[in-house]
Amino acid sequence: MATASVTKAKAAQPAQAEPVVEVSAPTRREFLYYIWGASMALILGQATAGLIWFALPRFKEGEFGGTFTFTGEDVPEVGDAPTNIPSGRFWLSRLEDDSFVALYGVCTHLGCLPKWVETNTRFECPCHGSKYELNGKWIEGPAPRSLDRFKTTITFEDGSTAATNDDGDPIPLEGKRIRSIAVNTGARIRRNGQV
Ligand code: FES
Repeated sequence: MATASVTKAKAAQPAQAEPVVEVSAPTRREFLYYIWGASMALILGQATAGLIWFALPRFKEGEFGGTFTFTGEDVPEVGDAPTNIPSGRFWLSRLEDDSFVALYGVCTHLGCLPKWVETNTRFECPCHGSKYELNGKWIEGPAPRSLDRFKTTITFEDGSTAATNDDGDPIPLEGKRIRSIAVNTGARIRRNGQV
């Protein structure tokens, strides 16, 4: 009997109240601080993304705007017709003095594509008749200047290299055997006047 009355007395005790945790709203100063922090993180993220975008090459190798690589066997011999590379819109041209130049295959008049005419040994534009020599030099027609050129780097079998200068002059080969040749279609050199 006594045990039963003790149990009842315990059950009748009121439950203890949960401690109240007060969450205070951020002050105006804290709120501005959070906004400033978020803005800085956003700006830094954008700057980093921009840097990565600039650091990565924009064009893949072998697509117009990027670099095209060839072996020595792809380069014409002296006296050969120039080799057309349609995907890069340029010509590999070996000149009579055993030098090399990569010519942008777009007419400097209104952008048609001149063809190499073997019988006349010159480039002739089908649109308005501009004509260019094997080295891209303007001969006649309404084109305002010679064909543009692409910067090229040649690696020879002996390990030496030669590159196009800032004027886009042909690279002398001097009888050396070419191991590889890299034409950068992202680096176009405009020839001044009709030279
Ligand atoms: S586009 Fe070539 S001559 Fe006019």
